[in-house]
Amino acid sequence: MKLAILLLLSYFIGSLPFGYWVGKLFYQVDIRKVGSGNIGTTNTLRVLGPKAGVLVLLLDLFKGTLAGYLPMIFGLNVNPFIIGFGSIIGHTFSVWIGFKGGKAVATSAGVLLAYNPWLFLVASSIFVLIIFLSSMVSLASVIGFILITLTAFFMQDWFLTVVALILTIFVVYKHRENLKRIMHGNENLVHFGLLYWYRK
Ligand code: G3P
Repeated sequence: MKLAILLLLSYFIGSLPFGYWVGKLFYQVDIRKVGSGNIGTTNTLRVLGPKAGVLVLLLDLFKGTLAGYLPMIFGLNVNPFIIGFGSIIGHTFSVWIGFKGGKAVATSAGVLLAYNPWLFLVASSIFVLIIFLSSMVSLASVIGFILITLTAFFMQDWFLTVVALILTIFVVYKHRENLKRIMHGNENLVHFGLLYWYRK
């Protein structure tokens, strides 16, 4: 019973579409109708600028971390990812915006922060490095999830290996259009990083 309630609460937290709300409230822009149409950090940064991007990044990360800590807060002895999964589903299929949503990256990273802060730090550093080199957040996201899966495998953390593998498949699926653009050499770049400056 407690598990079901916490899963629902986690879904509710994850479903809060901060990217959409920040755009609407502070900029009178429907983020779903501009740029890539995604409600996540990258599109917010691209369309509304760094302040809005950082705000959405922190809020989306926080959703996952809070959801990951729900078992500890409510004294339920289960893995943070079991409850945290609800927030990832909530973020991607948000009840507030017709069961559509983001691409599961920041909220999953937030749950990882609650699960294993060190792995979060390592994964985030590699993520930032790939963005710095390629100017492509989508590429960094997909590679980041693959690396987390491999790291979990080599750490012999079988639970995380399975969870990360499921998330990797999901994230690859959500980035299928980005991957096509990457292969055709016309993925949207963020306005920093070496590739952006090289092409400019
Ligand atoms: O987290 C989403 C990011 O990986 C890609 O976003 O807007 O370029 O599709 P976008």
